[in-house]
Formats: sequence, structure tokens, C-alpha cells
Amino acid sequence: MPVESTKQQGTQIERRTFAIISHPDAGKTTLTEKLLLFGGAIREAGAVKGKKARRHATSDWMEIEKQRGISVTSTVLQFSYRNRRINILDTPGHEDFSEDTYRTLTAADSAVMLIDAAKGVEPQTIKLFEVCRMRGIPIFTFINKLDRQGKDPLALLEEIEEVLGIRSCPMNWPIGMGQEFQGIYNRADCRFERFTERGEETEDIQVEDIDHPSLREVLGPDLHDQLKDEVMLLDIAGDPFDEELVGRGQLTPVFFGSAIANFGVETFLNQFIDLAPAPGPRQTDAGVIEPTNPSFSGFVFKIQANMNPAHRDRVAFIRICSGKFERGMNVLHVRTGKKANLAQPQQFFGQGREIIDEAYPGDIIGIFDPGLFRIGDTLTESGRFHFEKLPQFSPEHFARVYVKNTLKYKQFHKGIEQLSEEGAIQVFRQANRTEDMVLGAVGQLQFEVFQYRMKSEYGTDVELYNLPYSFARWIESSDDIEKLNYDRHSIIVVKDKDDRLVMLFPNEFSIRLVLDKNPGVVLHSTSYGM
Ligand code: G4P
Repeated sequence: MPVESTKQQGTQIERRTFAIISHPDAGKTTLTEKLLLFGGAIREAGAVKGKKARRHATSDWMEIEKQRGISVTSTVLQFSYRNRRINILDTPGHEDFSEDTYRTLTAADSAVMLIDAAKGVEPQTIKLFEVCRMRGIPIFTFINKLDRQGKDPLALLEEIEEVLGIRSCPMNWPIGMGQEFQGIYNRADCRFERFTERGEETEDIQVEDIDHPSLREVLGPDLHDQLKDEVMLLDIAGDPFDEELVGRGQLTPVFFGSAIANFGVETFLNQFIDLAPAPGPRQTDAGVIEPTNPSFSGFVFKIQANMNPAHRDRVAFIRICSGKFERGMNVLHVRTGKKANLAQPQQFFGQGREIIDEAYPGDIIGIFDPGLFRIGDTLTESGRFHFEKLPQFSPEHFARVYVKNTLKYKQFHKGIEQLSEEGAIQVFRQANRTEDMVLGAVGQLQFEVFQYRMKSEYGTDVELYNLPYSFARWIESSDDIEKLNYDRHSIIVVKDKDDRLVMLFPNEFSIRLVLDKNPGVVLHSTSYGM
């Protein structure tokens, strides 16, 4: 796999570190591949494995690993573009959807929200969007598959605003769709990009304004009139572009295109590069750390075990927040107070890995983990501080867990404790039944991986019994929890690993009912800020 030379990577040019958030099938793999092509990181389409190559789900995790394509094992893809270093963080979807998917967003400085024009805003997109909103990071929207018949563009904007509650500002506007798709009109510079068949060069028509006769000639009077009407409507009734609001995540710039036809992607990338933020300051318990601070610091946002079955290795992924990372440097592992040597830093490209010598704020490095690291750990070159704690996110699957062989009880507890600390699974305990543990997972695959690792790493067979809950809500209440008014048959109260109170609900209706019956109670879908 062609990878740029490490020499080039060693320069401190500005980073753009972002994640693509979307529902499965919206075209994330396709768009990622096109972005890599622009960056020269791959030479031909098809180098990024599509989901067909990883379609077979199996309960053997190593088998799953083997069959996974780039979008699962890679975690981060890096390439250069226009004097910027781009880091695309992967957010696993499909059956791989897990807490990792959410946590990855804590390492990103911005997000690209990819929407299928025919399907609009879909459930997984909503969940990921909420995490981005919680962090207040800028969100850029790419509406994909314009080469197919989809929803009306104005209706799509309305849907984004209504379902997600974010204002939108189209940066370009499509003319026709599907068979009738003519291209996009860029509002800022009055440039019309004509849609041509796949692979052909796009044809740009630069006009001084939208009324220009050459545009009318190309589009014909009907489509030209339609374009003029719609753009006028946007000018009058739509939200104007406002960089500050974009920066605060309150306005999303919207782009249209077709990833598969590589149409509108370059236009999107160019504007995205200009508007997306460079790595910014990060909050710690000792104040804000600026990326320009010369002293290295970073935090672990993901731990991946057994990436290489032969070596049983675990890799901790670290987001660099300040200073310069150098291979072999000694850092302070703040939680334990121990020194850690960062000896074999890796950067990942697809299934290949590459040792790197230096890295900068915004970059992600993978470090071999001898069992030292946990999700959320801070590493510093000097200073003893912690970055903000990574929140726990509401699981969607819950199960009680039992050990099959009671002689293995000690191993069982050790395994559960370690895997929950590592962030592989969430563990809740029922208030007065401390022996009864409830496990929570964001995606079903997390349970399979948990079961597999309990057996392979702790020699313990475990049984899981699914529970009928689908939502966890962290409780903020001034009232005595015992006095809360709720249906004790269908809802339970548990404690998370930090002893915070959490309610488990079977459906959204039951959440609303509890809120209605207990006016003093606030429920949170993550432990963020609690
Ligand atoms: P994902 O990673 O978000 O799950 O989506 P992926 O890129 O795998 O794309 C999902 C399907 O949508 C693929 O078709 C892909 O070719 C198609 N697709 C992506 N972008 C566009 C686009 O701009 N226009 C159209 N018309 N289709 C697009 P598939 O048939 O499921 O798979 P394949 O046979 O193409 O691999």
C-alpha cells in the first residue's frame, strides 16, 4: 500500500482532524476513498475495502478482525492536502457500532455529516450528531447520491433543522437529481459545476452572477428559472453563512454531491479545509492546554486488543493535544504516576502499520500497551493534570452476566473489572444486589467481543442473559431516589462504575413518563458533566 514518506509527515503543518458521521450505506467508505485519492494517499479506487469484504458477521472475534476492511481496523487515516495534514478518524458502524464509535468523536476537532439524499437523516446519524453537539464541534454536511433520485433538497434542509435542531446554510445548490442531475451551483463564487459521467473531468462554468446568459444556455430556460427561484429563496429565507456560528457547531454548511461519481467532493474538500478548525485548546483539571504549548500531552481515547492474534497485542490510541511527540520519549502516565516509554509509536494506514518518529497536536498515534492504559488516561511530558474525563454513553443492549464454572469466580471478577476499566463494556450494579451485575453495550458485537475475551484472556466461560432495557439515563435529582415515582416492574435503578445513579428503561415512552411524574428530575443520556 503506498504510504507517504515519514519524512514528509515530520513537519509541523496544520492539522485538520475530523470524523465522518453517517448511517450505514450513506457512502462513508466511498467518500473516504475519494478524499484519499485527492490526498494522493491511494492511487486507485477500490483500495479501500468496501463492506462486501467484511459482510460476514461471526462470533469469532479474530475472524471478524480478519474479515474487516479498512473502516474497522484503521482508526485513523492520514494524508496531506494543500499544505494541510488531514487526519480522518474512523467511526465504525454496522455491527461494529460500539462505544468506540462515540469516543472517537472526542478525539476529533470537527465532523462531516454524510447524508443519503434519498433517506435523509437516519438513526445512527442522529446519535453521532448528538455527541458532536455535546462537544460543540463544527459539523459540515455532505448530502450524497445526487446521481440518484432523492428527496427534494429544500425538504432535506428542513429535515436537518427539524430532526437535529441545527441551522443549515447550503454552500452550493443542486440542479436536478437522478437522471436529471445537471450539477451544482456554488453560491459564493457563482461557479456552476456540470455533472458528467463517472470518471470524466468535471466541467466548470464561471459566471458573474446567476442571471448570466451562458448559464441559461447550458441549463435551458426551465432549469435555469428553477435554480434562480430556489437560490433566491435561500438568499431571502435561509440562514446566511456565519463562520462564528459554524465554529460553535450551531450552523452547518451544506454541500451536495455524489461520492461515487467523485462529483462535488473536491469542492467540498477545498472549502472544508478552509473552514474546519485546526486543533484547539483542550480543557484539563488544571486549566486549558493550548496546542502551541511546547510540552507534549495527549489522552487515550481507544484501546484495541488482539489486533494481531499472533502477538496478542493491545494498542492504545492517543490523541496528541500539545507539544511534539518523539519516538521513544518518556512521559508521565498521570493516573498511576509512573513513567511510560513510548517506544513503538505507530500510524495506521488500512491494515498496514508504520512506525513514526514524530507527531503533532491533532495527530493520533497507536502505542503498544502492556496493560497499563485505560480509556481516558492522560500522558504528559511535564505537569500532572488530567484531560476531561471521557463520558460514558447510554448503552442500547443490556444483559446479566454469570460465570459458568463457579470455581473461576476470581478470574471472572478480575476480567470484568479490567475489561470495564478498559472501556470494552459498561458494568452496572443494582443498588442493593451488589452481586448482580448488569452489563451494558452500545452495540451487540461488544457483548460478543466481551465473551470472547473473557474466555481467551481470563479463561472464563460466561453466560449472558439479555435484559429488556434499551436506554440508560444518568439521574440528576435533588430528591431522595427512593421517593421517585416510577414503575418498578419495567424500570430499574443501578449504579455505574463511579457510583453514579442510572435508570434503565425499556423504551422512550417510559423515560417521558418518569420525567412527567417527577418534575425535579433531570435525566442525561451520557455521564458528561456529571
Ligand atoms: P458506508 O461505508 O457508509 O456503509 O457506504 P458505502 O461507501 O459502502 O456505500 C454504500 C452503497 O452506496 C454502495 O453500494 C456504494 O457504491 C453506494 N454509493 C456510495 N456513494 C454513492 C453515490 O454518490 N451515488 C450512488 N448512486 N451510490 C453511492 P452497494 O451496491 O451497496 O455496494 P457496491 O456494490 O458499490 O460495493
